[in-house]
Amino acid sequence: MSSDQGKREQRSGRLVALTGGAAAVFLALAVNFAVSAINSRSRNRKKREVRGSNVQINLTASEILRLADRIIAQSKKVYDSVAAIPLDKVTCANVLLPLAELEGQHFPLVQSCVFPKLVSTSEDVRKACAEAERRIDSHVSTCSKREDIYRVVKALVARGDYMSSEEKCFAKILVQDFERNGLNLPMTKREELQRLKTQIDELSMQYIRNLNDDQSYLLFTEIELAGLPPEFLKVLDEDGKGKYKISLKSHHVSPTLELCKVGSTRKAVAVAYGRRCEANIPILEKMIQSRHRLARLLGYGNYADYAINHRMAGSSSKVFDLLEDISGNLSEQAARELAILRELKKQEEGELTFGVEDLLYYVKRARDQQIDLDFGDVKQYFPVNLVLSGIFKICQDLFGLRFEIIEDAEVWHSDVELFSVFDLSSGDLMGYFYLDIYSREGKYAHTCVVALQNGSLIGGRKLIPIALLISQFEKEVDGHPGLLRFPEVVNLLHEFGHVVQYICNRASIARFSGLRLDPDFVEIPARMLENWCYESLSLKLISGFHKDITKAIDDNICESLKRWRSSFSALRLKQEILYCLFDQIIHSTEDVDIQGLYKHLHPKVLLGLPALEGTNPASSFPGSAIGFEATCYSRIWSEVFAADIFASKFSVDLFNQHTGMQFRNKVFAPGGEKDPLQLLSDFLGKEPSIQAFLDAKSDSC
Ligand SMILES: *[C@@H]1O[C@H](CO)[C@@H](O)[C@H](O)[C@H]1NC(C)=O
Ligand SMILES: *[C@@H]1O[C@H](CO)[C@@H](O)[C@H](O)[C@H]1NC(C)=O
Ligand SMILES: *[C@@H]1O[C@H](CO)[C@@H](O)[C@H](O)[C@H]1NC(C)=O
Ligand SMILES: [Zn+2]
Repeated sequence: MSSDQGKREQRSGRLVALTGGAAAVFLALAVNFAVSAINSRSRNRKKREVRGSNVQINLTASEILRLADRIIAQSKKVYDSVAAIPLDKVTCANVLLPLAELEGQHFPLVQSCVFPKLVSTSEDVRKACAEAERRIDSHVSTCSKREDIYRVVKALVARGDYMSSEEKCFAKILVQDFERNGLNLPMTKREELQRLKTQIDELSMQYIRNLNDDQSYLLFTEIELAGLPPEFLKVLDEDGKGKYKISLKSHHVSPTLELCKVGSTRKAVAVAYGRRCEANIPILEKMIQSRHRLARLLGYGNYADYAINHRMAGSSSKVFDLLEDISGNLSEQAARELAILRELKKQEEGELTFGVEDLLYYVKRARDQQIDLDFGDVKQYFPVNLVLSGIFKICQDLFGLRFEIIEDAEVWHSDVELFSVFDLSSGDLMGYFYLDIYSREGKYAHTCVVALQNGSLIGGRKLIPIALLISQFEKEVDGHPGLLRFPEVVNLLHEFGHVVQYICNRASIARFSGLRLDPDFVEIPARMLENWCYESLSLKLISGFHKDITKAIDDNICESLKRWRSSFSALRLKQEILYCLFDQIIHSTEDVDIQGLYKHLHPKVLLGLPALEGTNPASSFPGSAIGFEATCYSRIWSEVFAADIFASKFSVDLFNQHTGMQFRNKVFAPGGEKDPLQLLSDFLGKEPSIQAFLDAKSDSC
């Protein structure tokens, strides 16, 4: 997931659970498919009720607003009644249960009001969703500052007679949420906290606005852009005097840095890109100061600890340890990789100094030389239906599940399909998922999983999980097979991993059965599943030549994909670690010289390569500034654990259902209610380690 994208997801609110790059989906089991295509869209037939679903599908704009108001009124009633309980009469039954039940029952209704914003074809509906979301958010925000409720919950915690560890955990989280809003502080400090939050929000908005408003570009002649394909040049604007405009947006910058043969062009683009929005540096500095003050007010040593404290990593110092161990252990490998690139540059451009602006270009050159792989050819093996049925098969076999399409289910668009998920051995219904995978106008432009109804079991009332997977694939139309690019295939399996994880969660409180609770933890299973795209046994299940799907993908191609994945990975990782360390450092000390820090850190992490003069990620890399502040490390974190689990448990036997079931029972099922490190250690039968991750990065060139 890119940081720009992360940003956008943040903005789109609680609704979007998780996203990846771009990817594909559609359904499966050829027989089912044919039948459903005939049956499911006969409009006049009465739609089938979906047993156990409280999600309301295809509401009109006015229904959405009415529902939102009803949710708010009802929620206020419950809060008021909990608040009215005398402090000496509090019990789990009269405090925790009503609050947990309210959350669990309301969540699918809230989502019914909000998720159409991503998928509806009607602009009126999308507008109503935005308004409903605004009203609900504002209500939630008010509730999160209710001192009367905080006092009641505190009284309950003081008493401590819980019936289950989940209840205890829930009480702890409620208190933590209130206290992160400052409710344990005296009024003056609480007001300061509010001021700081407002200030941070305003600065963030300013930062993003500057980035979005940035219209700067560079001009180059065709010769200066040698190496870029004609299709790319064709769509560039020109200045009227024969020069092409390269904007400083990533869709122009990345191809230029990767493909342009002219070193001076790459350097000019890299420098301009790294300097854009310089006005953002003082904004970020102010933002960091405010964040530190906020963290201090709330009793944390620094902002990084505030951001990490409730996540799996636990503390900023653990994050530093991990990043430094990885970086240190990869230095030799990265140096070997860099030597290859330097040599290539010498051959191609003579005795010019190798700079960071050369990395992407020479990594691509080296890969093209070393690995025989044409992604255009590879794509011919991934018709969307086939990929999806393969992914279904992998997940069903591995985790002991059975998927079944529901014909005639009510949906919001004729492209959408609904599936039931059953436990293979007992036949019990475990949950549902919707697939809405084809692109259309007005639809959310990324791949993501949306939680529609979290699993829960409260006071004997059970809700089963319902997920929605959204993506943007080309539809299969006469003569044109819908084909997926390989990264889309990987991404689809990743996202589908989130769906499975969500549906296999058995926590009894909705808070713990979602996908958001601990972002360090939640990405691990999905990342792990990506490995099935690189093993020939499993890759064969999700591929087939589109003109003759019995023709499986060649073992050589699979081998090449695997090599491509690991090639130059130490160097690429070092670069990511540089940003993660930068992000961690600026958020752990109050007064840091942002410019000086980057200059110092760059050669230290990147094997002596100096930063390009005047560039600084602080001005234009929104991830570390907004959305992922102090948590950029999380991507590497989840990959480390995913690598260990795959290597220790699955790599020898990709389809071992016994191991898969253990994973389902020990990791998916308890989900957010147990300590993640404990869950993983239990499953692994040992302490997790970084070794497998390091090994995966060092068997290249
Ligand atoms: C490599 O990682 C280990 C932890 O697995 C750590 O103890 C060691 O210090 C690291 N080596 C270097 C050179 O950083
Ligand atoms: C959704 O509702 C609208 C009107 O409210 C209706 O015209 C449309 O057919 C419905 N869509 C589906 C897929 O049921
Ligand atoms: C359900 O899961 C979603 C997504 O992970 C989460 O954002 C939401 O807060 C959860 N719902 C409740 C009621 O906790
Ligand atoms: Zn993910």
